[in-house]
Amino acid sequence: MTASRKGEPAQEMIDLARSTMTRAYAPYSNFAVGAVLRGHNGKLYAGCNVENAAYPESQCAEASAVSAMILDGEHNIAEVLVMAGGRELVTPCGGCRQRLREFAEDDVPVHLCGTDGLKRTVTLAELLPFSFGPNHLERK
Ligand code: THU
Repeated sequence: MTASRKGEPAQEMIDLARSTMTRAYAPYSNFAVGAVLRGHNGKLYAGCNVENAAYPESQCAEASAVSAMILDGEHNIAEVLVMAGGRELVTPCGGCRQRLREFAEDDVPVHLCGTDGLKRTVTLAELLPFSFGPNHLERK
């Protein structure tokens, strides 16, 4: 599948994030997050946050989605969507920006959504400028 309209995420991507959010295991924060990645192969990969009684061991939705993508053999992200409730614009945490950077170029769109839909789209470079990535370790 591809993005439906220029710059906007496909409805399928939004719907998947919404259903994924309902699977979140977030008994400590009560803050459910759904993340959906679209690979270069066109497939969608979803993940939710998975918290832990030892709080620092919790996993963000983006990390879960990256794991699903890697498990399927895809290593290139074309589009990212993150969804959460609340009035604030949800953005990936610092660590997840770097996790996404591993598999996404600077110009990859990151759609920031509430449960009722898209709030704003930014690029990965806007979230993580002057990023360090796999290219820095190329020894040629
Ligand atoms: N969280 C995510 O899963 N992704 C984000 O982009 C922001 C924060 C989770 C981590 C934790 O389970 C809960 O939201 C509250 O911080």
